Amino acid sequence: MKSKINFNKKFCIAGGGGFAREVFTLLIDCVKDENINLKDWVRFVMPDKDYLKTEIMGIETICDSEFNPNKHQVVIAIGESRVRKKIVGFFPKETEYATLVHPNVVCSDWVEIGEGSIITAGTILTTNIIIGKQAHLNLHTTIGHDCRIADYFTTAPGVKISGECYFGECVYFGTNASVRQGISITDNVTIGMGGVVVKNIIESGVYIGNPVRKLEK
Ligand SMILES: CC(C)(COP(=O)(O)OP(=O)(O)OC[C@H]1O[C@@H](n2cnc3c(N)ncnc32)[C@H](O)[C@@H]1OP(=O)(O)O)[C@@H](O)C(=O)NCCC(=O)NCCS
Repeated sequence: MKSKINFNKKFCIAGGGGFAREVFTLLIDCVKDENINLKDWVRFVMPDKDYLKTEIMGIETICDSEFNPNKHQVVIAIGESRVRKKIVGFFPKETEYATLVHPNVVCSDWVEIGEGSIITAGTILTTNIIIGKQAHLNLHTTIGHDCRIADYFTTAPGVKISGECYFGECVYFGTNASVRQGISITDNVTIGMGGVVVKNIIESGVYIGNPVRKLEK
């Protein structure tokens, strides 16, 4: 799987936080063989209400209202699944979302990932895997065979997903969480750092521990 980037439009990174800066470095790795002037081509996009005209890593910032889908493509560099979904809702319908896949990702031809996804270095996706749009797979995630995963999926670094798992929309895995094979997880579930999932999760919420239990607040 390769990145999908439109070199005829400027490249926008929505977000101004730490992950957005990491996505910029990922973008540099993805376009290293292109003759491109990053300073001209890339913009960080911030919400109008928080907008501060500044530079991030030498790159200009623009605000949401300056975003023009005819001239700009975007990736949403916001780690939290549900916030990312909300932000996609703020962009115009015709927005073109780029997909970034780090050159050292290992991925067979039998893997599909939806538009807007960001797959960072060291990730391994084996075979017969389908993942929806706007997924973020962070450093050294592994996903096994025959998984079906809905939109806005997020993994923090080091997450291990075994084969034949089925996840709903907006599922988030914290750093080093892992899942036994054949597990189903419903929509809007967060697994905390180091969580180990050994049974299906049928109720939305936050789960922690080994084996995971629901965090009641
Ligand atoms: C699970 C998580 C979402 C809970 O966050 P929260 O709702 O703010 O919960 P709190 O920090 O208030 O913690 C509530 C309780 O759960 C415990 N807890 C929190 N996260 C835990 C985890 N991952 N494993 C075990 N226990 C955990 C806390 O110690 C606390 O216990 P206490 O009530 O006995 O003191 C969060 O801790 C987490 O793991 N997020 C993922 C972070 C991550 O991977 N980031 C990667 C960025 S790239």
